[in-house]
Formats: sequence, structure tokens, C-alpha cells
Amino acid sequence: MILLSSATASVLRTGVDRSTSKRSMELLFLSPMYLVVQLSPKESSIRLTQLINCLQYGMRLHEYYFDNLGKKGSSVDAPNLLKKMTEDLGSYEAWENDFKATGSIRGIGWAILYQDSITGRLFNQWINEHETGHPAGGMPILVMDVFEHAYMLDYGLIRADYIETFFRNINWEVLEGRFKAAILLCQ
Ligand SMILES: [Fe+2]
Repeated sequence: MILLSSATASVLRTGVDRSTSKRSMELLFLSPMYLVVQLSPKESSIRLTQLINCLQYGMRLHEYYFDNLGKKGSSVDAPNLLKKMTEDLGSYEAWENDFKATGSIRGIGWAILYQDSITGRLFNQWINEHETGHPAGGMPILVMDVFEHAYMLDYGLIRADYIETFFRNINWEVLEGRFKAAILLCQ
């Protein structure tokens, strides 16, 4: 099963390219000239901060997203993560249902499985657009893009079909590696 058509992949890649640090730096220097004309200094500073946050978080989240896709393995490739899911959330199925529900929240953004760096607990969270709702101390384990551009070209309005295909293409070995790295940071 192919997760993304070439057209969708192209849209996403273009989005990532536009979100590179180079582009962020270009905007860092170009935007003030525009914003200063349009807005007060305080307003322009706020707008510029929002823009840079959006670009930088968008770049990083897309990197996580593409890295945790691409292998038709299964959750058994992540035994330590599965054990922790069961401890924290009751069962793998309970986690998966909650993650899919998180990814089905109305709006554009991301569903992310985090591990808390202090308690070590796993939890799912909705990130609105690219920059709103990141939990302090949360370390991303699984990242799913649910902006329209991630699924509408291939699945129309049926986001649930995209999410099902996403799950069939998760690279669980990558998730296990992120989990082990996060555990080291928790200690
Ligand atoms: Fe995206």
C-alpha cells in the first residue's frame, strides 16, 4: 500500500523545502522591512516571532514525520515501546485508538506520541498548525501530519483512510530507537 502519491509527496517536500533554516533566515532579514511599514514595532516583532516559530517547528515536524515512515514492519519491531504503551495506557490497542482519535481532531495540525522527559510517561497530543500546543519536556516518538496537504490529493475528505494507511507504513524500528534515546534522557 502506497501512503502518498507522488503529487502529495511533492507538495509535502516543497513545504519542507520552504521551511528550511535557510528560508527562515531569509525571512528573518526580509520580513522586518515589510512588517515595519505595515505594523507597529511591537506588532511586527510578534508577527515575526510567530512566523519563525511556524517555519522552524514545521521543518522539524516534517523531518520526524518522514523519518517514522517507509517500512512495512509491525509494532513487534518496537518491543520496549509496546511494553511501555501497555504500562501507561492499558494496551497497545488503547493507545492506537487514542492516537487515531487525536489525529481526527477538527482542524489542521499534527498528532504526536510523546514521552515526558521527567516522568517517562507516554501520551498522545494534538499540535495545532505547526507551533501551538507543544508540551514542555515532551520528546516526540511518533509524528503524524494531518494538514489537508498530507491526504486530500489521495483520500479527499476521508482523513480516516489516510490515517489507516499511515499506520500500515510506520517504521517501528525508528520508533523503538527514539524511545530508547528518550529513556536515556529520562535517567
Ligand atoms: Fe505537512
